[in-house]
Amino acid sequence: MEDTVIVITGGHGGIGKVVVYCLLKKGAKVVVLDTNDTKSSKIKSNENYTFIKTDVTNINDLQNAHDIIKEKYNHINHLISMAGINMKSEVEGIKGITFEDIDKSIKLNLNAHIYLIKTMLDLLENAKQKDNKSFLMISSINAITAYGLPAYSAAKSGIYGFMNSILNELGKSYIRVNTISLGTVPHMEQEVKGDEYFEHYVKHLAIKHFVRPNDVADTIYALLKIAKCINGQNIVLDMGQSV
Ligand SMILES: NC(=O)c1ccc[n+]([C@@H]2O[C@H](COP(=O)([O-])OP(=O)(O)OC[C@H]3O[C@@H](n4cnc5c(N)ncnc54)[C@H](O)[C@@H]3O)[C@@H](O)[C@H]2O)c1
Repeated sequence: MEDTVIVITGGHGGIGKVVVYCLLKKGAKVVVLDTNDTKSSKIKSNENYTFIKTDVTNINDLQNAHDIIKEKYNHINHLISMAGINMKSEVEGIKGITFEDIDKSIKLNLNAHIYLIKTMLDLLENAKQKDNKSFLMISSINAITAYGLPAYSAAKSGIYGFMNSILNELGKSYIRVNTISLGTVPHMEQEVKGDEYFEHYVKHLAIKHFVRPNDVADTIYALLKIAKCINGQNIVLDMGQSV
């Protein structure tokens, strides 16, 4: 992936950092936008890694990131919108979620994807290779299951409609648009939820092992580099959990 510039939001999270490491190993130039500035020792010394502290819900932060990337590379080949979390109060369902958390969740888990592509689109258009451009959003099977988390789930399903709406517009510039909907992906950064939490979800798996961050990284690599005819798709990566 030499000569390929990849920008990823949430790239310092539990899944994101594994994806970033994989893409750097493949030779890509990777720019991470995240509020968390804790850099993993595995990636911080890589000369192809850039970090720009960015709150993806803040338009000024995104504009600043845009200007830094423009100055450094003048283009983006692949934009991966991964930052997202559920709010604590929505674990208690619609009765428990606060109005403030409804707004925060929708802003981060839906609006921020729209802000991101709106801010960075000219840089994707600047990428010269027609078969090496895409916009990828990370959703969740919460969008299609009855697992609760009302605002998070609504936002994650909103991503599908948004993807469809921009497909033709971005297609004119040869930019593919896809979504990956993840099932449960246990990782090192999660708060310990105890065995019961995992036992509950493992029951829903046809094959009794969870998707891991390196599976997400492999799928993203395949989507960007190999399976270049995939466009406008929601790819469910969940070991059959949602079925
Ligand atoms: N882990 C799972 O089981 C699972 C399941 C389904 C979907 N997902 C989705 O996968 C993506 C990654 O999840 P994860 O488990 O790695 O989460 P995580 O909490 O470990 O990482 C999320 C990252 O996003 C960053 N972030 C949060 N708010 C931000 C903001 N306003 N601006 C910029 N960065 C911000 C955090 O600092 C963090 O680095 C999320 O979109 C999540 O909804 C995860």
